[in-house]
Amino acid sequence: MTREITVSVIKADIGGFVGHGQVHPEVVARVRAHLEEEGPRRGLIDLHVTSVGDDIVCVVTHRRGPDDAAVHGLAWEAFLAGTEVARRLKLYGAGQDLLSDSFSGNVRGLGPGVAEMTFVERPSEPIVVLMADKTEPGAWNLPLYRIFADPFNTPGLVIDPKLHAGFRFDILDLHTDRRISLFTPEESYDALVFLGATSRYAIQAVHSRALGTVAAACSTQRLSRIAGRYVGKDDPVALLRCQNGLPAVGEVLEPFATPHLVAGWMRGSHAGPLMPVALADATPSRFDGPPRVAAIGFQLAEGRLVGPRDLFGDVAFDGARREALEMAAYLRRMGPFQPHRLPLDEMEYTTLPEVAARLAGRWSVSG
Ligand code: 13P
Ligand code: 13P
Ligand code: MG
Ligand code: MG
Repeated sequence: MTREITVSVIKADIGGFVGHGQVHPEVVARVRAHLEEEGPRRGLIDLHVTSVGDDIVCVVTHRRGPDDAAVHGLAWEAFLAGTEVARRLKLYGAGQDLLSDSFSGNVRGLGPGVAEMTFVERPSEPIVVLMADKTEPGAWNLPLYRIFADPFNTPGLVIDPKLHAGFRFDILDLHTDRRISLFTPEESYDALVFLGATSRYAIQAVHSRALGTVAAACSTQRLSRIAGRYVGKDDPVALLRCQNGLPAVGEVLEPFATPHLVAGWMRGSHAGPLMPVALADATPSRFDGPPRVAAIGFQLAEGRLVGPRDLFGDVAFDGARREALEMAAYLRRMGPFQPHRLPLDEMEYTTLPEVAARLAGRWSVSG
C-alpha cells in the first residue's frame, strides 16, 4: 500500500449490439455487477462502467500501483462474465477482444486496452477520460499535441508558469515496440515527425516537466501478461489530469472542437472525422460511424470518483458535430477510393492476397 492513487481505465469490445454499434445494456450491467461484487476484496476504492460504441470502458481506482495483476485480472474476469451474456444474446463478435475462438474477421483489434496513471492525489484532482470508437491509438496524437504543446489551443503554455516549462512526450513505435521520450517545446518539430505518422507512432504518456508528474496516459499498452499472448491495439482510451499546473479541462476538450480525420470507421479500413459526442450519441451507425469520441470528467476525492460529467454533452460542440457530419458525407462520396479507403497496408480487412493470387497469371510485363 502506498500513498499514491492509481486510476486504471480498462476497455474491451466483448460483443456489439447491433453489429458494431453499441454495448448491450445487460452486458454493461453484468460487467458492473462483477466489479461491484469482487472489487472491494481486490482493493478497488471506486469504479465506473460505461460504454462508447461497442466498447465497454471500466474506470477503477485503487492503491495497488500500475500493472497490478489483481486489478487487471479482475477487469479480465468482468469482461469474461460480460462475454457470457454477449454469447447468450448472440451479440456480434462476442468476446472478440478476449478469445481467439470468436474471431469476427478483424485481426488487428484483438485485446483489451488500458490507460493507467499513478500519482499523489492533489488537493483537487480533476480527471478526464477520453474514449473513442472506430479508430486507433494514433487518433490521440493530434489532440494531445494540441493540448500539451500548442499555445493556440492551450494558452496556459504561455501564461501559466508551471505549463510554460513544457512536457515530455513518451512515443511508442507500434511496429517495433520501442519508445522514445521527446521534450516540448524545444523538440516539438522532432516530435511532430513521429506524431504526424499516426498509423505507426502513438503517444503512450505525457509528463509535466515542472511538476515532474504524469499528466496523460493512453491505451497503447497491451494486457499481454494476462492474455498470455500478443494482443494488439484497438479503439483507444486516454486519461488526463487537469488544472493547477496542467491543462485546464477546457484546454483538454478544445482540440475536439475541430474534428480531425482518423483511421478506422467501416471495417477499420477508412479515414473519417472524429466526432465529439455526448454518451447518448456514442452509437456509431452511419457506415458504422463516423468515428466517435466521448469524454467523462471526475473529481477524485481520496480515490472516490465524483462524477461523471458528460463533457461533450454541451451545445458548444454542436458546431463540431455538424462539421464532422459534413466531412463524413463528403468522404463517403469517394467510396472504395483512397484516401477515404485506407492504404493497403493499413486496412483491417483485405481481399488483396486472394485476388492477387487468383489473378497472378494474368499480369504481363508492360510496354
Ligand atoms: P487553474 O485553476 O487550473 O489555474 O484554472 C485556470 C482556469 O481559469 C481555467 O480556465
Ligand atoms: P470495432 O473495431 O468497433 O469492433 O468495429 C469494427 C468494424 O468492422 C466496424 O465496421
Ligand atoms: Mg466491434
Ligand atoms: Mg469498437
